[in-house]
Amino acid sequence: MTDPLVKSMALLRELIDEAAVVAGFTGAGISTESGVPDFRSPDSPWMKNKPIPFDLYLKSEEARKEAWRRKFIMDDLYRGARPSRGHKAFASLVESGRMPGIITQNIDGLHQASGVPETQVIELHGNGTYATCLSCGRRYDLGWVRSRFEASGEAPVCETCGGIVKSATVSFGQAMPESAMRKALKLTLACDLFLTVGSSLVVHPAASLPAMAKENGAKLVILNREPTPLDPIADLVIHGEIGPVLSECIPGGR
Ligand code: APR
Repeated sequence: MTDPLVKSMALLRELIDEAAVVAGFTGAGISTESGVPDFRSPDSPWMKNKPIPFDLYLKSEEARKEAWRRKFIMDDLYRGARPSRGHKAFASLVESGRMPGIITQNIDGLHQASGVPETQVIELHGNGTYATCLSCGRRYDLGWVRSRFEASGEAPVCETCGGIVKSATVSFGQAMPESAMRKALKLTLACDLFLTVGSSLVVHPAASLPAMAKENGAKLVILNREPTPLDPIADLVIHGEIGPVLSECIPGGR
């Protein structure tokens, strides 16, 4: 481990120890150690397919079929993904009471799988482990959707109202979940340390939260393999691997 990295990790430990309220903020980079690829690393499979925007999903049956096809391929690839050392480190901070919540852009449910209570995982981009009807809100198990999709080749519609059924994730062009955004803003403005890990910080409005915390007087730490646009305003930037760094800096994070 290089000397600058050792120094940065010592500073990270200090900042975490001194903080009263730590806001966790995660992106896809915290799940790559679990075998779930991120979106913008050079070899990401997500880069092969242009995302299907929400308006296209609504108006095109073909788009809905393609979206389900892609989703089930990806789900099969990552079935059995387990929480990484980063997830476990954050979970131990939550358990200690130091991290009241984790604001996440991820839809993989791995923070919950690491033991963080549902109410303390703030999912800005929804959750990919179930589906809902866009009209009446009825919730559907993905197994229900998949069996109908694979039997008929059609995108299933809601049994209650005939509405369009969609994975409970937030697509580009889709409104952000209001209650999650409210909870995220509240935590952003209540924290004195905003610890963001594994995000390229290029997708808004999520990427505006670290800057908001900083403007509000919190210390901002960015841990990411690559540089991010917010590095210049951070109090500490660590360009390193999340697993080794967090498991060293946060007790219980192994
Ligand atoms: N350790 C440290 N950093 C890592 C690791 C790791 N093990 N693995 C990946 N990274 C870094 C990558 O270098 C990259 O900068 O994590 C970052 C992940 O960035 P993105 O792939 O852009 O993911 P994210 O920031 O979560 O994307 C935000 O974009 O496509 C939408 O809705 C999608 O929620 C997603 C949003």
